[in-house]
Amino acid sequence: METTVYPREPQVLKELRDATAKDHFGRSPMAADPHASQFMSMLLKMMNPKRTIEITAIDTNREFYEIGLPVIQKAGIGHKIEFIESEALPVLDELLKKEANEGSYDFAYVDADKLNYWNYHERLMKLVKVGGIIVYDNTLWGGSVAADPATVGHRGGAVTQSTIQFNKSIAADPRVDISLAPLGDGITVCRRIY
Ligand SMILES: C[S@@+](CC[C@H](N)C(=O)[O-])C[C@H]1O[C@@H](n2cnc3c(N)ncnc32)[C@H](O)[C@@H]1O
Repeated sequence: METTVYPREPQVLKELRDATAKDHFGRSPMAADPHASQFMSMLLKMMNPKRTIEITAIDTNREFYEIGLPVIQKAGIGHKIEFIESEALPVLDELLKKEANEGSYDFAYVDADKLNYWNYHERLMKLVKVGGIIVYDNTLWGGSVAADPATVGHRGGAVTQSTIQFNKSIAADPRVDISLAPLGDGITVCRRIY
C-alpha cells in the first residue's frame, strides 16, 4: 500500500478517503479499499465506459453521498453523476421497464445491501451489455467465506452465508467470465458473455 497504492492515489481520491474517515457516522470502514479502487480505475481506463451504474450512487442515505459531494464537485465530475436517493433494487426494476435500457450499460459496481447481491446480479445481467463488466465488492467478507465456521466470530452471520452462496452461484453462472481478485475485502470482476 505504501509503495504501490498511496503514492499514486489521485489527490481528490485521497481527499475523499480523508473526508470519509472524518465522517460523522463512524462508517469509514465502508469506504472502497484504495488498492481495489486503483485496480478498478485501471479497468475503467481500459474500458472507457460511457454509461455506468454505481449502486452506492443509488443510496438510501443522501447524507453519505453529501460527504463526498464537495470532492466530486472539486474534481469537476458532478455533471456525470445522477444521485438517486432510494433502495437500489426498485430503481433497477424501474430501469428495466424501459426496453432501451436493456444492455445499455458498460459497467456496474455493487457495494451495498450484501444480502441482495444475487438479486442485483440478475437485474444487472439485463442492464449491462454483452462484454460489459460488473464488479462486486466484499466478496471475501473479511476472509470469513473461507474460514472454519467454528472460528469466524462476528462475521460468521447472515452476510457470510449469503456471500458464500453468491460466490458459488456466480462461479456456476455460464453467462459470465469471473475473477475474484483478493484486493481489499475481495472484488469479483464479472464480464457478461451473453
Ligand atoms: C459499503 S457502503 C458504500 C461505500 C462506497 N462504495 C464508498 O467507497 O464510499 C454501502 C452503502 O450502501 C447503502 N445502502 C445500504 N442498503 C442499501 C439499499 N438497499 N439500497 C441502496 N443503498 C443501500 C448505505 O447507505 C451505504 O451508503
